[in-house]
Amino acid sequence: MSEQKRPEPKRLFMETYGCQMNVYDSERMRDVLTPLGYAITEKPDDADLVILNTCHIREKATDKVYSEIGRLRAHKERRAAEGKGMTITIAGCVAQAEGEEIMRRAPEVDLVVGPQAYHKLPELIARASRKMGERLAADFTAQEKFDALPARAPDGVTAFLSIQEGCDKFCTFCVVPYTRGAEYSRPLTDVVAEARALADRGVREITLLGQNVNAYHGVGPRGAASFTELLDALAQVDGIKRIRYTTSHPIEMTDELIAMHGSEAKLMPYLHLPVQSGSDRILKAMNRKHDGAFYRDIITRLRAVRPDIALSTDFIVGFPGEKEREFEETMQLVRDVGFAAAYSFKYSARPGTPAASMLGQVSEEAKTERLNQLLALLSEQQRAFNQAQVERVLPVLVVGNGRKPGQKQGRTPYAQGVHFEDSQAQSGDIVPVRILAATQGSLTGVRQTLTPEAA
Ligand code: 5AD
Ligand code: SF4
Repeated sequence: MSEQKRPEPKRLFMETYGCQMNVYDSERMRDVLTPLGYAITEKPDDADLVILNTCHIREKATDKVYSEIGRLRAHKERRAAEGKGMTITIAGCVAQAEGEEIMRRAPEVDLVVGPQAYHKLPELIARASRKMGERLAADFTAQEKFDALPARAPDGVTAFLSIQEGCDKFCTFCVVPYTRGAEYSRPLTDVVAEARALADRGVREITLLGQNVNAYHGVGPRGAASFTELLDALAQVDGIKRIRYTTSHPIEMTDELIAMHGSEAKLMPYLHLPVQSGSDRILKAMNRKHDGAFYRDIITRLRAVRPDIALSTDFIVGFPGEKEREFEETMQLVRDVGFAAAYSFKYSARPGTPAASMLGQVSEEAKTERLNQLLALLSEQQRAFNQAQVERVLPVLVVGNGRKPGQKQGRTPYAQGVHFEDSQAQSGDIVPVRILAATQGSLTGVRQTLTPEAA
C-alpha cells in the first residue's frame, strides 16, 4: 500500500507588539491563514511567512519594528540563497501610520497591511509572494472586516472578544484616534453569536476588547444597545462563566455599569481604568475630560458595590509641562486609591499629536526619576494586594497544566495567575484553591474541597 505524502505545511512566524487588541488581531490573522495550510513556527529563520503585528503608541514600540525587520533581512537572504521565499508582512498600527515609509526604508518588506484589512490577507499574500510589493491600509471598514473573518478557533478556556474599535476621545498624547480611526461598535447580535461559538468550543472566560470598550454603543435587536445591555446579553450565554472588559475610559463609567459590578456575578471583580495623571492641570492638558475627584468618586462608588474589586490603571509621567508637584499629585492619587496592578510609561512624543508640539517637554532624566518613584510605589501596592489573598480560598478557573506534574495553572477572579497542587481538575473547571503564598507576579496554592468564598 502506498502512503500518500501530505503537503509540507507552510510556516508562519508571528510577532505581536503592544496591546491586547493586537493579541486578538494576531489570533484572527492566524485563523484566516490556517485554512491555507499555514502552521505557526516559533523560529523566524524557517518561516515562509512572517507577520509583525506592530504598535505605534510609543516611539520605542515603533523602533522595535525597524530593528526586527533588520534581523529578518538576514534570514530572508539566506532562504533566498537556498531557493526558498520569505514573505515579510507588517501589520498593525505602524503599518497604518507609516506604511509608505516602511516600504521606502525597508525594501525587504513585501506587504504592509492595516488593521481593517486582515480579512484580505490570503489574496494580499498570494500577490505579494509573486513579488509585487503591496500596501493596503485603511480602505476597509471595521464592519467589513468582522463580517469577513472566519469562525474563531480558540485554543484555550479564555479568549478575547473584540466588540469595539477606534477612539473619538483625542487625548492630546495619543495616536490611537489617528491609527485606529473613529469609534465603531459591533452589532450586539454578532458579539453574542461569537460568544456562543466560543463557549461551544470550551471557552469559559471572555475579555471584551476595545480601545474604549465601555463606550460601546452597538445596534441591538430593539435599536441602540448600551454596554450594560451587551453585558446582560453575554451573561446569559451558557458556558461563559466569567466576563472581563478592557480598556475603559472613566467618563464612560455609567451609573448602570458601576451598579452592575455589584449585581452581575459573572462580571469579574477587576477593572482596568486608566487615569494617566493625578494632576488636574495635566489631565486638562491631556484632554482627558475628567479630573482627579471624578476618578476618585468612581472608585468610591465601585467599592461601595464591590468592596474587593481589584483596580488597575495606566500612568504617563513627564507629560509636557508636568512639574514636580504635579507628579507628586499622581503619587498621592496612587496612595489614595491603592492599585492591584498598573502600567506606567514615560511620555513619548508622537508625531502629529497636539502634545508633541507643546512647550515644556520634560527631560529624559526627570521622566526616568519619576517613573522609578512611581514604579516603586505601585510594585509595593501590587505585592500587598497579592499578599492579601494568602489564606483565602478563591474560585480559580483552571487554564492548563502547571510546570510540575500534579500542578495546575489558573486565574483568580482578580486576574492573578495561580499555580496550585491538583491532579484532577480539568481546564475550564472553576475550583476552590487555598492561596498559600504570593509574590509580586503570581500566587501559589492548593486545591480545597471546601466551597470557595463567594467571589
Ligand atoms: N506616551 C506614553 N504613553 C502613552 N500612552 C498612550 N500614548 C502615549 C504616549 N504618547 C499610554 C497611555 C495609554 C496606554 C495604552 O499607553 O497610558 O492608556
Ligand atoms: Fe488614546 Fe485617549 Fe483614546 Fe485611550 S481614550 S485610545 S488614550 S485617545
